[in-house]
Amino acid sequence: MPATIIVGAQWGDEGKGKATDLLADTTDLVVRYQGGNNAGHTVIVGDQVFKLHLIPSGILYPHVTPVIADGVVVDPSVLLEEFDGLAERGLDPFERVKISGNAHLIMPYHRELDLLIERRLGKANLGTTKRGIGPAYADKASRVGLRFQDLFDEKIFRQKLEAVLVHKNEQLAKIYNRLPMQADEIAEEYLGYAERLRPCLVDTTELIHTSLEAGKHIILEGAQGTLLDLDHGTYPFVTSSNPVAGGALTGAGLGPRHVDRVIGITKAYVTRVGTGPFPTELFDEVGEIMTDRGGEYGTTTGRRRRVGWFDAVLARYAERVNGFTDIFLTKLDVLSGFETLKVATAYRYDGQEYTNFPPHQSIFHHAEPVYTEVPGWDEDLTEVSRYEDLPRAARDYVDMLEEESKSRITWVSVGPKRSQTLVRHDVPLVPPVAT
Ligand code: IMP
Repeated sequence: MPATIIVGAQWGDEGKGKATDLLADTTDLVVRYQGGNNAGHTVIVGDQVFKLHLIPSGILYPHVTPVIADGVVVDPSVLLEEFDGLAERGLDPFERVKISGNAHLIMPYHRELDLLIERRLGKANLGTTKRGIGPAYADKASRVGLRFQDLFDEKIFRQKLEAVLVHKNEQLAKIYNRLPMQADEIAEEYLGYAERLRPCLVDTTELIHTSLEAGKHIILEGAQGTLLDLDHGTYPFVTSSNPVAGGALTGAGLGPRHVDRVIGITKAYVTRVGTGPFPTELFDEVGEIMTDRGGEYGTTTGRRRRVGWFDAVLARYAERVNGFTDIFLTKLDVLSGFETLKVATAYRYDGQEYTNFPPHQSIFHHAEPVYTEVPGWDEDLTEVSRYEDLPRAARDYVDMLEEESKSRITWVSVGPKRSQTLVRHDVPLVPPVAT
């Protein structure tokens, strides 16, 4: 049975955790394919709130196997903290979570360098999550990274660590005036983690493919979002991995023919954390209301998110680079109570209008949105349980987003709970097997 990719269509925090969790009902494996604990997924089940950073959202379903695939960077201290937290709440992550031996490790010097590099950049900083993500991916590309499998071969682990630490300590001392890190101390700490994590080490490519061959269904769960993609996002204000649908294939070890569904998750407005251009950003009272009502504070860093009107230029771009089959629209309820709503349908720069994502970053940095203004609605949407029962203006707004985004909006979410999800097009997640 084919796989489904779930991708953030904006700058992250679109509600992928909720969408994955909801769709996980009909799936067997939920696979994280990139990123690390820079992500933050909030999932609400009944009256319980779960905040997950590294563990795939499917953990909340006993029938699902959560997988951390090759493309992810793993900080084992954070992972164990998350495991212990879930174990205290009655879940069994140690038995269920499977981790690829090829996933790279986030080491203490990655965290330290992330912090120091950002500090050194001063005003030009990227606003990273300071979890060591960028330095860990940089080491992977430079072929000096340590991988999850290295934890289970003490000799190799110590050898690789000592070799790389020579360069890291030079960097720490000569550029940043820091004390050197000790290989023995790091090795003791990490080899200690290895003992607890040994049951999780699995050939995840084998697991994924034998599962597909056995007719099982897989969700590939993205972290961050399209515009934070290293290649297709708003570089350099991006993360260091590939959240887009293509990244799911490399990160999990699949080919395009294994995938039949690409679901884009998008908010009914736009948010961004960290620095970088944001054409529809709001600096007024409307923005403040959206931030507060939408609870727009980061799950990982607690930072206040920047907010703005829905940007259809970016939505069309996300559709192009991911090839969405469906959109899961989130947080429509947050837009209740505004007299009118705006949607950017194009940008203006230097006398020219751009309906597609501009090819040069300087244009994007100075892009002035061209807005279409539509009527808002006053009704509270959080209790609505059928799409048809939404106020007319809310349905018109969704219709407009669908037309402008050039992607089918299949689900609309009006609150954080599983039950607050409205089906707009009743299409099965998993296509029926032909008989
Ligand atoms: P990094 O991924 O920590 O290197 O941060 C790079 C950029 O991506 C920063 O602007 C972060 O705020 C942003 N970022 C990283 N992870 C997330 C996320 O899960 N949601 C939203 N923004 C993120």
